[in-house]
Amino acid sequence: MAPSMNDDIEKILFSEEQLKAVIKSLGEQITRDYEEKNLLLVSILKGSVIIMADLMREIKIPAEIDFMAVSSYGGDTKTSGTVKIIKDLDRDIAGYDLLIVEDILDSGKTLSYLKDILTARNPKSIKICTLFDKPERREVPNIKADYVGAVVPDEFIVGYGLDYDQKYRNLPFVGILKERVYSK
Ligand code: IMP
Ligand code: MG
Repeated sequence: MAPSMNDDIEKILFSEEQLKAVIKSLGEQITRDYEEKNLLLVSILKGSVIIMADLMREIKIPAEIDFMAVSSYGGDTKTSGTVKIIKDLDRDIAGYDLLIVEDILDSGKTLSYLKDILTARNPKSIKICTLFDKPERREVPNIKADYVGAVVPDEFIVGYGLDYDQKYRNLPFVGILKERVYSK
């Protein structure tokens, strides 16, 4: 049999069904809060691409979307500490109620940097939605997400957009890798 990605998974933390429920609940909260607003969803590539695709369909009010790409980790599981814009937004965000959509809030460096530079562009409002929050790992103390799908323990997770060395993003669930994967 061909080698399967599933063989590299030690433990599943969130099944497809659980993720669907989490995303649905986030969509309901955002639908409620952004009625009468000028919602622009900003997905941070590549990790949030799957969350974005599912979340936007659970939002039942008019919304526009845009994408931004920043560098985070290399092939490692720890942050380099520097954030670089690789792809910027296509538009002027003045007048929009911006909602940044991220996969995970870890040290907080990425979102803190993004929130600062986007705030400087004068959107009408700016908030953060993250699927996962790992509060134990926070290094930037005052960064907080306004919408959190689930709080996760201090373990490196993959799947549903989240990668290890650019792989495993296409797993439909979220899990923890076996130790041997890191020592390859
Ligand atoms: P931060 O700047 O340390 O908060 O890191 C945010 C980015 O690091 C996320 O957008 C992810 O790309 C990546 N990251 C952090 N923790 C994990 C994890 O457990 N699995 C996969 N990627 C992660
Ligand atoms: Mg990543």
